[in-house]
Amino acid sequence: MGIDKEYKKTGKNGKHRASPRRERAAKLRTLRLIVNGKVYELTVGKDVEASHTLAHTLRETLGLTGTKIACDHGGCCSCTVLMDGEPILSCMTLTIECNEKSIVTIEGLKDQRTGELNRLQQSFISHSAFQCGFCTPGIIMSSQALLDKTPDPSEDEIQEALAGHFCRCISHYEVIGAVKDAAKERVDSHRVTPLSSMPGSCHRGNLRASTASIEGVASAALLLEGTTQVPVMAELRKEGL
Ligand code: FES
Ligand code: FES
Repeated sequence: MGIDKEYKKTGKNGKHRASPRRERAAKLRTLRLIVNGKVYELTVGKDVEASHTLAHTLRETLGLTGTKIACDHGGCCSCTVLMDGEPILSCMTLTIECNEKSIVTIEGLKDQRTGELNRLQQSFISHSAFQCGFCTPGIIMSSQALLDKTPDPSEDEIQEALAGHFCRCISHYEVIGAVKDAAKERVDSHRVTPLSSMPGSCHRGNLRASTASIEGVASAALLLEGTTQVPVMAELRKEGL
């Protein structure tokens, strides 16, 4: 994962010292972020603080709460988003380091015009590859990055790509199956548009029971949120609608 190890070097005074990249970024006054194909101009000191992480900015400033913060220390990968196509930990990345970067979050995977979920998201639903869903957005983002580069990954490659993602609900086997199936369908159909071609590029509750009725054929994508604000994007077919 994209943890900035350079930042962890120790300076002469024994304290952590910022990398040259972070020192340059700290001088910026205006940031330009491309998030899910949309351009955001943010003023440092007004819209964002220099100390804000990307995870904080996505959730608190831009309202994109699909990205989850769990450990907030780079240990669980729940906060994974794509930056210029690479999976990074948004809780370990300062927003000021993202100037002119293209960010894709879980909200950016669906078809932005129709709202239809992409093949990978639909595969997670059909495999019930989650329970509480808190880790799911991060896992999906890392899986998407894998499939963009390796359309037909082996199980070892999937496990390697998802190493570091913690799931307290132990949905790992279903996750592997979901990614495999998404890859298979993708290879078979050749109909999935890579993220790199996107414009600008880049509950709690009985969710299993809920997903049993998810068919992935409805026209509207709904954002399901439980008490933990878990945004599982799902298409629902409601009887009679
Ligand atoms: S919340 Fe970022 S790694 Fe755990
Ligand atoms: S589904 Fe992974 S933490 Fe609950």
